[in-house]
Amino acid sequence: MNGNRSEGETRVRKAEKVVVPETTSDGAGVVLKRAIGSLKLSYADPFLLLDHFGSDDPEEYIAGFPMHPHRGIETVTYILRGSVKHRDSEGNEGIIRAGGVQWMTAGSGIIHEEMPQLEGGRLEGFQLWVNLPAAQKMMKPRYREFAPDEIPVHEPSSGISVRIIAGEYEGTAGAVTDLEAAPSFLDVTLAPEFRFEARVSRGRTAFLYIYRGGVIVPRDDARAAAPSLVLLGEGDVVSVEAANEGSSFLLIHGNPLHEPIARYGPFVMNTKEEIRTALSELNTETFIK
Ligand code: CO
Repeated sequence: MNGNRSEGETRVRKAEKVVVPETTSDGAGVVLKRAIGSLKLSYADPFLLLDHFGSDDPEEYIAGFPMHPHRGIETVTYILRGSVKHRDSEGNEGIIRAGGVQWMTAGSGIIHEEMPQLEGGRLEGFQLWVNLPAAQKMMKPRYREFAPDEIPVHEPSSGISVRIIAGEYEGTAGAVTDLEAAPSFLDVTLAPEFRFEARVSRGRTAFLYIYRGGVIVPRDDARAAAPSLVLLGEGDVVSVEAANEGSSFLLIHGNPLHEPIARYGPFVMNTKEEIRTALSELNTETFIK
């Protein structure tokens, strides 16, 4: 308790939960670390899934994610190393390269494949699933892709670099705009012992995913080292300090939807009936609208 705290005071978001991702595999056998969408953390409204894939061994990723459907969500693929080739039922086709992002709004339905390419034998990246509000679940699919040099970078000082994929940071808008749950997606790199701060409005769900080094997060100065997800509690500001080895992490936040969820593999709807409809449409080839 802090009896002296006034109503309008700025509050720093503290670590509420630290989640070490589960190692699992998905697609045709891609080994990955699942930080959201597992038993430890099934949902961080509006975020349904966060996978961190990566390996120096092509055996662990080359089989990729062959053709599969999605409905009711947005999938965001952000590549750190290597590249992923994709194509989908809307006729989109291309290669996401290191530093690039693909933001796909499945809406009423899309069928796509995501296939890692052999490039120096290495692959690393993330896939985030953002839930769509009930009213937008059956929206027309929308597809956006940004090359590495199309993603704004803001460097407030020499030891801090922020790539703004979506949302906003210190007045600089991200590459992907006009998103349903207004998600924000930053990739932050800090030199040893540098501090990063960002305003994140109250009521938004916010987390860090540390993928290199470590950070010190307020809550008895909790340390979190890669790989780990730090779910942040309520407040106005995110404030973290890099440990002495420096750090790279994602800061992701969005407005919770507070709606019922019915999820079955790549479909996320509000009711079981809507899931049954998706499956029967897939069987009768009426899935793609
Ligand atoms: Co997919």
